[in-house]
Amino acid sequence: MKGKKILLGITGGIAAYKIAFLIRLFKKEEAEVKCIMTPASCDFISPLTIATLSENPVYIDFWNQKDGQWTNHVDLGMWPDVFLIAPLTANTLAKLATGYCDNLLTATYLSAKSQVFIAPAMDLDMYAHPTTTNNLNKLDAYGVQIIPAESGFLASGLIGKGRMTEPEDIVKRLHTFFMFQNSMLGRKVLITAGPTHEHIDPVRFIGNHSTGKMGYAIAEEFLNRGAEVLLISGPTKLTLVHPKLQVKDVVSANEMLGVVQDNWQSYEIGVFCAAVADYRPIVQESQKIKKKEEELALTLIKNPDILAWAGEKKKQSQFLLGFALETNNALEYADKKLVSKNLDAIVVNSLENDGAGFGYDTNKISIISKNLQITDFPLKSKKELATDIVTFISKSFE
Ligand code: CTP
Repeated sequence: MKGKKILLGITGGIAAYKIAFLIRLFKKEEAEVKCIMTPASCDFISPLTIATLSENPVYIDFWNQKDGQWTNHVDLGMWPDVFLIAPLTANTLAKLATGYCDNLLTATYLSAKSQVFIAPAMDLDMYAHPTTTNNLNKLDAYGVQIIPAESGFLASGLIGKGRMTEPEDIVKRLHTFFMFQNSMLGRKVLITAGPTHEHIDPVRFIGNHSTGKMGYAIAEEFLNRGAEVLLISGPTKLTLVHPKLQVKDVVSANEMLGVVQDNWQSYEIGVFCAAVADYRPIVQESQKIKKKEEELALTLIKNPDILAWAGEKKKQSQFLLGFALETNNALEYADKKLVSKNLDAIVVNSLENDGAGFGYDTNKISIISKNLQITDFPLKSKKELATDIVTFISKSFE
């Protein structure tokens, strides 16, 4: 981390006492550290301690009454390589999620140009509250990297999830960020994600349980590494915002194919995560189907295989990765898809594994490469697997 500029935002939680150790770790690695403290955090750790350890003045107010100087939050927001807010209380989290800026730290967050990391810390019920989850999801969608709280003893005497991640692990997380930052700079990546909906009539459709989480996590990981991403997304509840991201929302397989056909030739990497419906109703009624007979038969027709199309058109310089979701004989079926769709690699996930598949935040995957070599990964969060998948792809470009 030598020479890296770290802006550290400290908010008013008991974990603020650990920030002294965190600053020591950064300084040991010869990083430059500047700190902004919220007024509430000064009750938990003294600004004198923070100023001494960081070897820089501490910023607390917009206005310094002693020397009459104004602290420019815009300049502060432009200064760092990384803006880390740790510990982040439920209160400041809510402010960040709504754009509220009533102190120097929250105003600087709105002006920040660098990657923002947050390390939340609060009591377990506060951490588990749906409002907190929603606020974290919002920041996630804005590209903020979350260092999730851990389980353990809490200051309240309760035991559960809410402890700030230990300083050593926060440092490790930033190491990984700096290691991969810009490693995909200039690369253009096309990603399909989410389900497709195939209309039966104006009010009904055939769909599946895909949430799009895996595809969105992969998109985010590529963006974090400096790539330019086109995300072609079926209907999901997810959002992702980033200056280098273009999102094309589609509904049906045919629409998804159209966007892929218009773009694939100008992209270098293709990651096809979408759970595309294999069939659609042969007739899509223009009026709602009325309830009449006891039985109703729908005739379906095969959808185009979008990934197979991309594989057929693939140039030597392009890298194409597909997914295979299987309920049985996973590796055997995935091997076949790898060959028949002309892929460079395929990610296999089997619904036979506990904690894997649609809707879970975790997944268990294997990646089969072109030479049929298999790499297995343990059950992990989809975000962590996105890191593994993107690292796997990036090795092909080394
Ligand atoms: N895929 C696609 N277009 C389709 C079907 C699948 O692009 N019409 C892609 C998926 O995005 C995934 C891969 O092909 O990357 C495999 O999808 P999967 O549903 O596992 O396999 P299918 O080829 O549809 O075969 P089956 O459903 O018989 O297992």
